[in-house]
Amino acid sequence: MPVRTILRIGHPLLLQVADAVAEFNTPELDALVADMIETMEDAEGAGLAATQIGVMQRVVIFGFEDNPRYPDRSPIALTVLVNPEIQFLGEGIGKIRDEDIDADIEEDWEGCLSVPGMRGWVPRYKRIVYRGFDPQGNVIEREVDGFHARVVQHECDHLDGILYPQRIDDMTRFGYEEELFEQHPEVESSC
Ligand code: NI
Repeated sequence: MPVRTILRIGHPLLLQVADAVAEFNTPELDALVADMIETMEDAEGAGLAATQIGVMQRVVIFGFEDNPRYPDRSPIALTVLVNPEIQFLGEGIGKIRDEDIDADIEEDWEGCLSVPGMRGWVPRYKRIVYRGFDPQGNVIEREVDGFHARVVQHECDHLDGILYPQRIDDMTRFGYEEELFEQHPEVESSC
């Protein structure tokens, strides 16, 4: 199956909520996943959501070994996650004071294959549990932190029609990679 076209920010499908996958272990789901893996690897991405190739199903993939776009990041095993759910972890969850919640959040540079050439400084929960299924319907459940947690939050946002620029608090830290590199040399070596 072919490398598929990745939709770019501005395309209306990227703003829509995807549907839950109803049936596991089907040729259609296997074909979708195969296309997504080929497309992500071709683009040297760390993750891809089905919605980014215009398929409105709740399927994400993520993972990489040595990725030139993410040279300083620890590898993540290639994972296919169907119908994912995220539970945020932290001391401030459920509390009212902003500073309690702030302690559970970290900001870092983020990019997206649907926002090519750009990076933004995005707040995400540091620690999460994610649950979902592999394409055969087996349960996947992992507690993760750091970049792994960030990638999963980013990909699952795609399934709800949310792109990372909508998560940015400080818009002075959003722009083209080449321009940002002048001010923030760390951009080049981050996600
Ligand atoms: Ni993305």
